[in-house]
Amino acid sequence: MESDSNPSPVLYDIIILGASGFTGKYVVREALKFHNSPSSPLKSFAVAGRNHSKLTQALKWAAAEPNSPPPSIPILTADTADPASLRMLCSRTRLILNCVGPFRLHGDPVVSACVEAGCDYLDICGEPEFMERMEYSYHDQAVENGSLVVSACGFDSVPAELGWMFNSKQWVYPAVPNQIEAYLSLESDKNIVANFGTYESAVLGVANVDKLMELRRSRPRRSKPKIPGPYPRKGTTIEYQKEFGLWVLKLPSADTAVVSRTLATLTKHPQGLPGVKESDKQTEKRKKFWSTTKPAYFGLKLGSNCLWGLFQFITLGVSIGYLGRSSIGRWLLLNFPSFFSVGWFSKKGPSEDEVESASFKMWFVGRGYSDLSRRMSTEDGDKKQEPDAEIITRVMGPDPGYSTTPIILLQCALIVLAQRNNLPKGGVLTPGIVFGPTNLRERLEHNGISFDVISRRVVCKFGRCPF
Ligand SMILES: NC(=O)c1ccc[n+]([C@@H]2O[C@H](COP(=O)([O-])OP(=O)(O)OC[C@H]3O[C@@H](n4cnc5c(N)ncnc54)[C@H](OP(=O)(O)O)[C@@H]3O)[C@@H](O)[C@H]2O)c1
Repeated sequence: MESDSNPSPVLYDIIILGASGFTGKYVVREALKFHNSPSSPLKSFAVAGRNHSKLTQALKWAAAEPNSPPPSIPILTADTADPASLRMLCSRTRLILNCVGPFRLHGDPVVSACVEAGCDYLDICGEPEFMERMEYSYHDQAVENGSLVVSACGFDSVPAELGWMFNSKQWVYPAVPNQIEAYLSLESDKNIVANFGTYESAVLGVANVDKLMELRRSRPRRSKPKIPGPYPRKGTTIEYQKEFGLWVLKLPSADTAVVSRTLATLTKHPQGLPGVKESDKQTEKRKKFWSTTKPAYFGLKLGSNCLWGLFQFITLGVSIGYLGRSSIGRWLLLNFPSFFSVGWFSKKGPSEDEVESASFKMWFVGRGYSDLSRRMSTEDGDKKQEPDAEIITRVMGPDPGYSTTPIILLQCALIVLAQRNNLPKGGVLTPGIVFGPTNLRERLEHNGISFDVISRRVVCKFGRCPF
């Protein structure tokens, strides 16, 4: 095993920081699947963190060899509170995969070190304030230094990003979407449980929601895309979706914030962002990709197949929302996670069986116009124009936190390694803008995350007909 005191530094394709964490060790397991296989660009990687023996244990676990020595993956020591150790990581890799959360507490020095060194950075953050703060603090420098910084390369927010794009692409001229609404349902025949790290990030996010609002107010307004038709009507807070058999509730989520940043970038750059050294063929491909991706109003709702499940979401939301704002409340929430989250979060995280049995479905209901120009010219005023067409698509995959997230993070990393010339030179960007025009969707499909068209309907004189 190589130690970080090696005098002649070796360059690794990637370094996984926070590899000893609950999610980090699943990311290591996913990386081992692609390490050194003939067609994989991942020829070398190292793990990093602050505790050597925990990292050794994580490697053993990831290699599924509890009683053998860990696989010969180098272990590097780094602490997010020690900038020199982060600079050392950046000098030894092209790409850091950051799994150290909550990101609001630990992420800034890692992004800063990467941007300074011109090293690429991906993470699994689901905290809008951190992502937007990094964008405001480091975007220009990251562009200049050629450092690509992409947060939310996990369940937050790639299924939502690729999911709305996939739905949007089903609308072929003269059909256009007006709204794409996502309905998320988590499923398991065991308990649905997530690790404390995600819960802590959510509690701190709620506690600091004022800072997010303040940050947004302090910045120029983002450009908004031109979307055909009026703003969609607000539905009721809780509704029953007969189509999917789900009770659903509107959810303030990282996904909505990330998708709206992608839409704002697209409004400014309708052909997307050019790759740093892309070929003419790639330029054509990118332009075609974005010209067939139409913007739409996006929202996300959380669903459960029974009202009791929805009641549990509400209890969790109210507990975090109410208690998360005071220090005593936060102390209670963070010390008794299972109690306040009705068993959904625990300090020891889900068992392997619980991870194995969990899955998610995300339905995307696109509503729009089968032929916008005909519809607008046949009725009075466009304010009351109701969409007449609907396309439903679905993204489906294994456990969101510990299977889907590592799959997505690794596939994004492999794209950065193999297709760097086709990606923007640098900047703090969303996964949709960076990976939308690549083959990320096809890669996810090969790795167990599916994208399907479920139905297409239009209002016709016989009621609702296929279109
Ligand atoms: N996007 C998604 O869908 C998704 C899915 C899963 C998780 N996440 C996010 O990922 C983050 C981690 O979650 P988790 O459940 O894996 O948490 P966790 O088990 O607590 O892991 C945290 C990791 O960070 C490391 N760490 C903490 N402080 C550090 C420091 N000062 N320097 C270096 N390393 C440090 C820990 O190292 P030690 O082992 O030494 O303590 C550990 O490896 C959370 O923010 C969570 O929200 C997102």
